[in-house]
Amino acid sequence: MIEIRGLKKRLSRKQVLDGLDLDVHTGETLVVLGPSGTGKSVLLKHIIGLMAPDEGSIRIDGQEIVGLKEGALNRVRRRFGMLFQGAALFDSMTVGENVSLAMLEHQNGMTPDEVGRRVRERLEWVGLKDAGGMKPASLSGGMRKRVGLARALALDPEYILYDEPTTGLDPITADVINQLIRDLQKQLNVTSVAVTHDITSAYTIADRIVLLYDGRIVFSGTPDETRGTRDPMVRQFIEGSSRGPIQPL
Ligand SMILES: Nc1ncnc2c1ncn2[C@@H]1O[C@H](COP(=O)(O)OP(=O)(O)O)[C@@H](O)[C@H]1O
Ligand SMILES: [Mg+2]
Repeated sequence: MIEIRGLKKRLSRKQVLDGLDLDVHTGETLVVLGPSGTGKSVLLKHIIGLMAPDEGSIRIDGQEIVGLKEGALNRVRRRFGMLFQGAALFDSMTVGENVSLAMLEHQNGMTPDEVGRRVRERLEWVGLKDAGGMKPASLSGGMRKRVGLARALALDPEYILYDEPTTGLDPITADVINQLIRDLQKQLNVTSVAVTHDITSAYTIADRIVLLYDGRIVFSGTPDETRGTRDPMVRQFIEGSSRGPIQPL
């Protein structure tokens, strides 16, 4: 499990994370909702050790990662798959090369044959069996997300982090990606954190939803509890209203 305590981070003279506490339980898919610019991506970067907090603690299965040296951090990162916002593919490489990148980077002793087989298998999992030789630039937004997902799955992660998995997709493609995430979560039994401002996506993939606002988690509930809550911030967020306690940036 992931245990975050008292996390603080100041960026560009703004207190982005302000004493954030959050537990992610083993096997659950947790969705962190929040308006744009609230620090959702910053939170994910802390969990994977790409940003260091000013204060606070992050434990992964009991191991404190704040203050770890780069080598030790890399061993922790090896257990994570991450789907970046915009999928972050290298356009000069093929789809297959993009997916194999993590395996080559971590030099985990796989032969080229094994890497090739793994790449084909992961592409098949995301419904892109025959796309290995294509260039990312020729793919639709939804297909790019699938490739990003295949790459996130490449190293058999115990944890998957999703940054805005449906942002920029039309509603139907978004639903396809949400269902795919949901199905993979069930099959692979991984522990996941997805950050999004898309409430529909949250309802589809989450076991539990939390709301990030003003640098802290201000609400936590199941999708049903979230739908039914009277919490004014959550209601405002669900209803997409500019009037309420949440101040638009
Ligand atoms: N590397 C950085 N340097 C300075 N400011 C940053 C950096 N990354 C994010 N921020 C700021 O932190 C705030 C939260 O950003 P972010 O986590 O990207 O928001 P979002 O919830 O939309 O993902 C924003 O005000 C952003 O400008
Ligand atoms: Mg973001």
